[in-house]
Amino acid sequence: MVQLELIPTTITEESTTTFINNMKLPIHRWFRFSAGYSAQWVQHEIIKFREELNQPVVIFDPFAGVGTTLLAGDMCGIRSYGVEAQPFLSRITQAKLGWGADIEKFLDFSNSVYRQAKHSNGDTGDYPTLIKKCFPDDTLAILDNLKKAWSKHNDGSVYSELTWLTITSILRVSSPVGTSQMELIQPKKSKKNFMHPLEAYQSQVQLMAQDMEIFQSQTPKSDSNALLYKGDMRNFSEMPKASINLVITSPPYANNFDYADATRFEMSFWGQIDKWSDLHRIRQNLVISCSHHAQAAGVNMQEVLQSKELNPIQEEIIEVCYKLAEERELHGGKKNYHLMVAGYFFDMVKVLSILRKICTKDAKLCFVVGDSAPYGIYVPVDEWLGRLALNVGFTGYYFEKTRDRNVKWRNRKHRVPLHEGRLWIRG
Ligand SMILES: C[S@@+](CC[C@H](N)C(=O)[O-])C[C@H]1O[C@@H](n2cnc3c(N)ncnc32)[C@H](O)[C@@H]1O
Repeated sequence: MVQLELIPTTITEESTTTFINNMKLPIHRWFRFSAGYSAQWVQHEIIKFREELNQPVVIFDPFAGVGTTLLAGDMCGIRSYGVEAQPFLSRITQAKLGWGADIEKFLDFSNSVYRQAKHSNGDTGDYPTLIKKCFPDDTLAILDNLKKAWSKHNDGSVYSELTWLTITSILRVSSPVGTSQMELIQPKKSKKNFMHPLEAYQSQVQLMAQDMEIFQSQTPKSDSNALLYKGDMRNFSEMPKASINLVITSPPYANNFDYADATRFEMSFWGQIDKWSDLHRIRQNLVISCSHHAQAAGVNMQEVLQSKELNPIQEEIIEVCYKLAEERELHGGKKNYHLMVAGYFFDMVKVLSILRKICTKDAKLCFVVGDSAPYGIYVPVDEWLGRLALNVGFTGYYFEKTRDRNVKWRNRKHRVPLHEGRLWIRG
């Protein structure tokens, strides 16, 4: 059996802000999420903080993603809370937090689904075009059998949700089409290695059962000690004042990545969305970090830029946003980056203010974040977030770079050097 390493021997500075190593770790590896960071690094920070503080650590992740921070909290045996607004991602995380469930019952449930799927006739009629482009008919028919068998057995239990995740996590594995670095599905690109869906399903069930056993026998508690809230952090009010002493998180970056689109493929398979425009329903609860969201949300740039919440960065953000508004006229796509930048910082102040309330005076906060340069116009995201944090009542900040980005000048729309790292904020 895999031995869990609380503090790994192989953690490198560069890898701490990426998800890649998590694909070797039990439970984390159930769903690949490129926007995530290293679970082992989070564990390392929790342990360090526990030693410094000498009292119980309560950790919070306002942008929980696929639950990396919460599972790291489980590994260290501490209480954790998280918020995630993208409903498909929060469902994945909730299913992962079911690692303490009865393994035999999970196997019974998933095997019943398998048996029924094996003896059914699948249908490929009702799927959105994206799904039809990503699977040959016979593969889609088998996946449809699994989906229908699961729907028949679905009783809302943890076993049902674990099996839902099993099917979700084999979709890309059984598709012959490619996936971009940021996990966006690419129907026009083909890949060599893909699996038969029923084989992929069986092997995923085995992997998940094995991982549950590892976690149950090797973590301090035999069940998760994490609580996930499914909602929008910009108006989160569930936690009492001064109840958190450690925040480890990674907010969306102001870089036009669309978290609603990130699981479009899976949501289309499950019938949750049909076309691209359906994604807007999901974006409404997210921090504005992409241009089409900013436009649909109707960001009023003048009003936002004059708001007192943005005072500490006002002159600079006004300059950047007006430059972006001018620059957009020179580009065919006419992207609304000016609205995106204004909306992003306005949203992030709301989050920082809520964090100020729920964190103790001696709390430590870490934001894994990267800067950006839409249309080549530089936005110093870490620096501005730090200053906005001071303005809502935090006492200090500093930035620790982990890696350079955009320095290879390949396939890039601009040549502005960027970085990624950890913005540390003090309570
Ligand atoms: C960079 S990812 C976090 C990844 C996470 N650290 C992990 O390892 O899985 C940012 C996350 O913030 C979520 N998010 C965006 N806006 C949000 C909001 N208003 N409230 C809560 N979560 C939000 C996104 O859906 C996304 O999952």
